[in-house]
Amino acid sequence: MTKKIAVLPGDGIGPEIVAEALKVLDCLKQDFGLEIETEQALIGGAAYDVKGTPLPEETLALAKAADSVLLGAVGGPKWEPLDYSVRPERGLLGIRAELELFANLRPAILYPQLVAASTLKPEVVSGLDIMIIRELTGGIYFGRPRGRRINENGEREGFNTLIYNESEIRRIAHVAFQIAQKRNRKLCSVDKANVLECTELWREIVVEVGCEYPDVELSHMYVDNASMQLVRAPKQFDVMLTDNMFGDILSDCAAMLTGSIGMLPSASLDKNGKGMYEPIHGSAPDIAGRSIANPIATVLSLAMLLRYSFGDAGSADRIEKAVITALDAGYRTADIYSEGMTKVGTAEMGDAIVSALRSSN
Ligand code: NAI
Ligand code: MG
Repeated sequence: MTKKIAVLPGDGIGPEIVAEALKVLDCLKQDFGLEIETEQALIGGAAYDVKGTPLPEETLALAKAADSVLLGAVGGPKWEPLDYSVRPERGLLGIRAELELFANLRPAILYPQLVAASTLKPEVVSGLDIMIIRELTGGIYFGRPRGRRINENGEREGFNTLIYNESEIRRIAHVAFQIAQKRNRKLCSVDKANVLECTELWREIVVEVGCEYPDVELSHMYVDNASMQLVRAPKQFDVMLTDNMFGDILSDCAAMLTGSIGMLPSASLDKNGKGMYEPIHGSAPDIAGRSIANPIATVLSLAMLLRYSFGDAGSADRIEKAVITALDAGYRTADIYSEGMTKVGTAEMGDAIVSALRSSN
């Protein structure tokens, strides 16, 4: 049966990097016989400009009907003056919530070829392979009430609410423990239980769920220390579990361990394993339209899509190997460039990956 991917390029570098992932997919279809069709739709600022909303109904309907979703990125300075309710980022939060994509998997792997591209010392980062699991549909990004108001002193005041219920914490904890079981049976849950009641509950529930996984070694860390430890000695971690906001921040930090945020893919899954796949970075307005963005995070997101949603580990492995071959050949976009390498643009990096893929047939 032909499977269908909803493709949502979005804004900024989104269309540039998604185009490269689609080249890779085309190669898999033509040379390896994959039966997959794609359909594109608008999201984010691109959707707002045409439809007046960052998440048009037809986009949501397509995403729900498709077997899986591949997304670029949304947002940019052009839409910053807009009200929060119609900001591009609202479209992204909206689709995550509507599809109930509560489990966000963010692997951070340092490829040996990129040790020189990391800003950290080789001995600190080489061999790094961690998995950050971020709760994606709860917490402060979704909590109500939220907004702005004038307080009793006549001052402007902004407020957001950090809220998690038991079942939200329980289901993401189960995902984390199960992934830890498949890896090195070590899970570090990151919270701020010393000052935030909500995350004290988080810790309590994670401990309870942990009783069902006695083979996994569970530890806890406050988020401020975790951010420091990620830079000091990142290899102490294997699987990290954390909430929506801490996961957002810690995964950008982890990205820099791998050389560039342009290297990190992600999977956002619902309870049935249906998912949306996207690079962890944003729309990078500072480099948009210049054909220099690194498409690897998006190409690797496609590999995760094939692995997790379509059960096609063979194709996922093939893509990941092709990325390694392109890196071995010395191709580097500007963000991962180091001396002696061949600097290439977005499309050339995509071409190098496709040609490695093709010759692996
Ligand atoms: P960003 O992730 O877009 O960019 C941060 C820095 O990393 C920039 O210097 C950028 O040039 C660089 N970068 C990002 N992706 C890259 C790639 N593939 N290759 C090379 N360099 C890359 O974060 P920023 O600048 O804070 O946000 C820009 C816009 O993106 C904002 O509107 C923000 O709300 C939105 N955003 C969207 C996300 C999404 O769609 N998932 C996630 C994060 C931010
Ligand atoms: Mg982020």
